Amino acid sequence: MSLQALSFGTLGVLFSLIFIGGYVSSSGVGLTCPEWPLCPHGFIPAPNFVIEYIHRTFAASTAALVIITMAFTLKSKNAPKQMKLTSVIAAGAVIGQVTLGGVVIVERLHSLLVTGHLALGLVLFSMVLMTAVHSWKMREKDRALEARRQQPSSP
Ligand code: HEM
Repeated sequence: MSLQALSFGTLGVLFSLIFIGGYVSSSGVGLTCPEWPLCPHGFIPAPNFVIEYIHRTFAASTAALVIITMAFTLKSKNAPKQMKLTSVIAAGAVIGQVTLGGVVIVERLHSLLVTGHLALGLVLFSMVLMTAVHSWKMREKDRALEARRQQPSSP
């Protein structure tokens, strides 16, 4: 899988997670799963906390994708410095966001913490978006170089 597909896939999953988070908040189901890190039946979802369960499952998948994207970006020889930086900030933000999500539960949806959760979500989204844009630019650059290489040299 290319770094471009990975970073845009991560962006798509994160966007869905933010959408689900907004739904959790606006429909008032944030404390239907009152435990942390797992819900009452462990990994088994139940109808009374299915939305919160989906939010946590998407959060875990997003965290894994953001960290994998960072690892591949840092390993890439072609990735620009800015892309490496945004991917590292995104990984830090996702770890902070998952931790803060847990604190939001433990502190019973304290309004400042929920606001912080939304704000950090925006920072995370911006960093993942910038990483994806850099990966797109990187691919365009690689393609242009490849096309130039394949052009027959003039006599
Ligand atoms: C990458 C990880 C995460 C992202 C991007 C994220 C994003 C969001 C967003 C955007 C909201 C809506 C906030 C609002 O409308 O004010 C939200 C709500 C919520 N999130 Fe997360 N979240 C993440 C992880 C977690 C985790 C791990 C938990 C832990 C259990 C969690 C618990 C909650 C709860 C309880 C709410 C509802 C708060 C309320 O009722 O007002 N989140 N999340």
